[in-house]
Amino acid sequence: MQFSKESLFTEARSHKQFDGKALSDDDLQAIYELSKFAPTANNSCPLRIVFVNTIESMQRLASCALDFNQDKTKTTGSAAILAYDLDFHHEFAYLAPHMKQPTAHASWPIDRIERYAIANANLQAGFFIVAARALGFDCGPMGGFDVNAVESKFFNGTRWKFNCVVLLGRGDYSALHPRAPRLSFEQACRII
Ligand SMILES: Cc1cc2nc3c(=O)[nH]c(=O)nc-3n(C[C@H](O)[C@H](O)[C@H](O)COP(=O)(O)O)c2cc1C
Repeated sequence: MQFSKESLFTEARSHKQFDGKALSDDDLQAIYELSKFAPTANNSCPLRIVFVNTIESMQRLASCALDFNQDKTKTTGSAAILAYDLDFHHEFAYLAPHMKQPTAHASWPIDRIERYAIANANLQAGFFIVAARALGFDCGPMGGFDVNAVESKFFNGTRWKFNCVVLLGRGDYSALHPRAPRLSFEQACRII
């Protein structure tokens, strides 16, 4: 697989329209197998993913999309629903054998647990997008969904919380607005 800073960053876009073809299960697994190497605090790995990969399940996901995201979701072949698991710390004995107190998080208040989970799952989400691009796929990240509907239809019986959806496939560059500007180095950064 050939990739470059252009294909990963400067020319890659957040796509709104795809060719409608589903990825193979092997492709979905390959994206995960790369993105799982994202660094997280204490190797906590709070990201959880439901890959949506049939016409029926994509329709079910589209029924949870806010108006402006419905057509985009309906016409795309594959998507990943990215979640963070409030029970992420249950895996510490496996994920962080070096930890001195692997059960310490169990006594944390829920808002602290949630902040930690979101911060680290967002890092993993960024890696997920770059992993998909590295394997030659385009991404359409979207947060505009009915959170309760997604959680009850896709995460039932878990303590997974909705983060965002990433549409997956081959994007149509002609359907995009011109790239919006980014903050300049001077606006966003300081060297001290
Ligand atoms: C967490 C997140 C939520 C987003 N939500 C939506 C959304 O609900 N609908 C949509 O069309 N685009 C959504 N976007 C896409 C952003 O608008 C897009 O990433 C941003 O404008 C940069 O576009 P570019 O990558 O093409 O430069 C979302 C992106 C992210 C990362």
